[in-house]
Amino acid sequence: KMNSFVTNLMGKMTTEEKIGQLNLVTPGGTVTGSVVSSDVDNKIRKGQVGGLFGITGPEKIRKAQEIAVNNSRLHIPLIFGLDVIHGHRTIFPIPLGLSASWDMPMIERSAQIAASEATADGLSWVYSPMVDIARDPRWGRIAEGSGEDVYLGSQIAKAMVRGYQGNGYDGRTVMACVKHYALYGAAEAGRDYNSTDMSRIKMFEYYLPPYKAAIDAGVGSVMSSFNDVDGVPATANKWLMTDLLRKQWGFKGFVVTDYTAINEMIDHGIGDLQRVSAEALKAGIDMDMVGEGFLSTTAKSLKEGKVTLQQINDACRRILEAKYKLGLFEDPYRYCNETRYANELLTVENRKAAREFAARSMVLLKNSNNVLPLQKKGTIALIGPLADNQRNMLGTWAVSGDFDKGVTMLQGIKNVAGNDVKVVYAKGCNISDDEEFAKKVNAFGVEIDIDKRSPQAMIDEAVSAAKQSDVVVAVLGEAADMTGESSSMSDISLQPAQKRLLQALKATGKPVVLVLMSGRPMTIVEEDKNMDAILEAWFPGTEAGNAVADVLFGNYNPSGKITASFPRNVGQIPVFYNHKNTGRPYRGGAPKFRSNYLDVSNDPLYPFGYGLSYTTFSYGDVRISKLNPKGNEVVTATVSVSNTGKYAGEEVVQLYITDPVATVTRAVKDLKGFQKISLQPGETKEVTFKITTEELKFYNTDLKYDWEAGDFIIQVGGNSRDVKSAKVNWSK
Ligand code: IFM
Repeated sequence: KMNSFVTNLMGKMTTEEKIGQLNLVTPGGTVTGSVVSSDVDNKIRKGQVGGLFGITGPEKIRKAQEIAVNNSRLHIPLIFGLDVIHGHRTIFPIPLGLSASWDMPMIERSAQIAASEATADGLSWVYSPMVDIARDPRWGRIAEGSGEDVYLGSQIAKAMVRGYQGNGYDGRTVMACVKHYALYGAAEAGRDYNSTDMSRIKMFEYYLPPYKAAIDAGVGSVMSSFNDVDGVPATANKWLMTDLLRKQWGFKGFVVTDYTAINEMIDHGIGDLQRVSAEALKAGIDMDMVGEGFLSTTAKSLKEGKVTLQQINDACRRILEAKYKLGLFEDPYRYCNETRYANELLTVENRKAAREFAARSMVLLKNSNNVLPLQKKGTIALIGPLADNQRNMLGTWAVSGDFDKGVTMLQGIKNVAGNDVKVVYAKGCNISDDEEFAKKVNAFGVEIDIDKRSPQAMIDEAVSAAKQSDVVVAVLGEAADMTGESSSMSDISLQPAQKRLLQALKATGKPVVLVLMSGRPMTIVEEDKNMDAILEAWFPGTEAGNAVADVLFGNYNPSGKITASFPRNVGQIPVFYNHKNTGRPYRGGAPKFRSNYLDVSNDPLYPFGYGLSYTTFSYGDVRISKLNPKGNEVVTATVSVSNTGKYAGEEVVQLYITDPVATVTRAVKDLKGFQKISLQPGETKEVTFKITTEELKFYNTDLKYDWEAGDFIIQVGGNSRDVKSAKVNWSK
């Protein structure tokens, strides 16, 4: 039915109208490139626009849709998209935070709620999930993804696509757009928009699977990335966009570029606008975001034989099919429901979910002498530039979030602590005292507001508050826009003003709990040494303060585990758990002529998968069902996990496999499974993982995905470093 509908419609379209469908414009909203769309209404009338992004609300969207439906020759409806990244109006923790929950049903639910709010706000297409594997915390966009691991990242990609798209487009679900295809997270030196260069083995093994997982889950669209892949910008890379994506992986949806990614190929050195636009179309790009290279040059390229009508038809068909699937031909106003808009955004239930998701995403990095959970009595000094800062709770890419409805830490602590707790607040310092730096950060309008009091006066006020208290809670870290797009940093430690404040607080002799808000793993060696407890809260979203307070007071026992290693210093980067062994691995002892640094250890401060709880867990030995399996036999690895502490808690039990001998060099270990379990104090559970030869496979030098017989070390533990292991010998 869809085929004949689209064929029939395309039969009536001029070439210009077909090219018009390939044009995505933004009349404002979040401008992240050098071009903004102009003369939008007129272009819609002329059939020169296929989709619009950057506007929300049924009223505005209805107006734009009316122009297309009533005033364009063929009445083809527009598709309306937006960056809905971690929630829509109700903002959930940044994706890096959500990933730290390792909780797939929760992550799926977060996308489902975002979809329901987005559709109530007039949208049917979201630019998420972002599944770029990132091993470099200097890259600001590490905040938007699921960290460094390909297995976990692939599970999350699937969960998010399921959450957004559900079992079909029923009016409350949206079309997802997996991005940024491909390898964007491997930008050299962590500098945004930089080149990437890697071997095919590495791509297939560690970077491409999350995109593929989203495709397998049925994602409706794909966004091309800004970077080059193997020397050709992704946006003109036929191997990537057609051979791999469509022919090998069977993707049937449409591909949109990133913001002006076609035009940017002029600076990549690929040619002028006509040339780069033709290259993009030929590679398999269907829709041009904002740059209008397609709109302005494709007819000419067709005339000159530089592109074919078939290529234009293919792209146009894919976009019309997406609109058809979303039900826009049947009802162009399907997503413009004023009642839903009035009743279904930022609801009590969605806020409740946001509070729960945020608590479940936090990671307890340190907790000496069980300083946490806090008691609900006595005096707490709540200190720091992020402690009463509504604008910085939501994190990056929260474009539809409502800052004014966010719960600050100060408010949250008051809400949760009860009447027996006295809270004394002092700002203590600015996020940064460097005004030039603060100006650069302020790209999305979330300012670092600089308090003009003298730094010493602010510290003095904080110290006096600390002295009156039983415990200090310092809420420090990054401003929301210090991570996210175009927010790379070469120094990822706390800003000097914040370090000075912490030293002064420490000197009071009071126990200090650091609540760290950040969109990336930061370098916090000093804080790890000096603070009594550290809670990584990420950017928790709308319910930030309530969720942080829930964790601090033990209403929720933290269960998050980091999904990107925390480096000790920037010089260690990239530091990630599944590195290679090398021919000269450093195993301790003399430091010369091995693969190591002289001034810092090879290990991160906190390894991938790490996170504490208010309780403790102990792991029994790994029991393997069959030590000498053969061929396609299934093996199980079982461990007993016990809660040996005083609190009920949840633990993410992780399975890693090492392949010590192979025809290509392999990582020291790779995550191959995980289960999140909950245990009452004193309770023990058996956790069993099924292992098949699928978990042993890797890409060899012929890019064949297969396994090789031999020994495998099966490891189970609560993080990538602390594991119990057993060996199996698997023969063909
Ligand atoms: O979706 C985003 C993308 O992640 C970065 N550039 C802009 C796009 C649209 O806002």
